[in-house]
Amino acid sequence: MRMLLPLDRDLDDAQLAARYAYPEDLGAPFVRVCFVASADGAVSSGGRSEGLSSPADRRVFRLLRRLADVILVGAGTARAEDYRGARRPTTGRDTPPPIAVVTGSARLDPAGRLFTDTRVPPIVLTLAAAPAERRDRLTAAGADVVALDRLTPDAVLGELGRRGLHRVLCEGGPTLLGELVAADAVDELCLTVAPLLVGGRAGRIATGPDGEHLHRLELADVLQEDGVLLLRYRRDIRATPIE
Ligand SMILES: NC(=O)c1ccc[n+]([C@@H]2O[C@H](COP(=O)([O-])OP(=O)(O)OC[C@H]3O[C@@H](n4cnc5c(N)ncnc54)[C@H](OP(=O)(O)O)[C@@H]3O)[C@@H](O)[C@H]2O)c1
Repeated sequence: MRMLLPLDRDLDDAQLAARYAYPEDLGAPFVRVCFVASADGAVSSGGRSEGLSSPADRRVFRLLRRLADVILVGAGTARAEDYRGARRPTTGRDTPPPIAVVTGSARLDPAGRLFTDTRVPPIVLTLAAAPAERRDRLTAAGADVVALDRLTPDAVLGELGRRGLHRVLCEGGPTLLGELVAADAVDELCLTVAPLLVGGRAGRIATGPDGEHLHRLELADVLQEDGVLLLRYRRDIRATPIE
């Protein structure tokens, strides 16, 4: 057991970016997931994550976006958080990463900020079985609509991989993360723990599908600022499979 505090080293932006760099020469999607939760495990306050955030969390959140080729979210998050396009270009590029939304229903508002306030077209990953008129409306609103036969993590990541979008930043939400966990598709989890107790009925960062899906992680980074803990876990490739 080792004591981590007090910390004695501040990280500037370049050092922080180096710590969060994706692996080099990726030949397939690498899924980094980021979430903020309260100390008692709540994933939202008042139905949104904003109340759990902090300057430290926002700094890392913005950095993670700048390092990504694509931002992947479930439609529940895009709707609850009124998502719009990312603002800043991916490092080394001229344009920000597109937002890719997973939605079985294609129930997204074509007049919403996702379509009207963005520098690049959002990618809508939906089902071929979703109502054609909804898909057409999203295409007319400027989205790159992809109708897949199934929306499993495999199919979604396969589509991103075909587009060369390998540095994936998944910003949630809990339903999408639950599916990624079940499919063993999470390579890294960046988890901010806010020094807050929320109580109530807020969910946790991953929910469903039924059953448990244990995957071992190793702790790669522990940073703190003003009592906010910024943890980075990655897939433990040395671990023996959990039966
Ligand atoms: N604390 C944080 O860091 C954080 C991060 C993200 C979200 N949140 C919070 O989480 C809450 C939203 O939770 P959520 O679980 O609803 O979010 P979610 O996982 O973003 O969205 C769930 C929706 O995504 C679509 N979806 C995901 N996987 C699918 C699949 N395999 N097939 C078909 N559709 C799929 C479905 O959309 P359709 O219904 O359109 O079919 C489903 O209803 C909000 O309160 C938000 O603020 C917190």
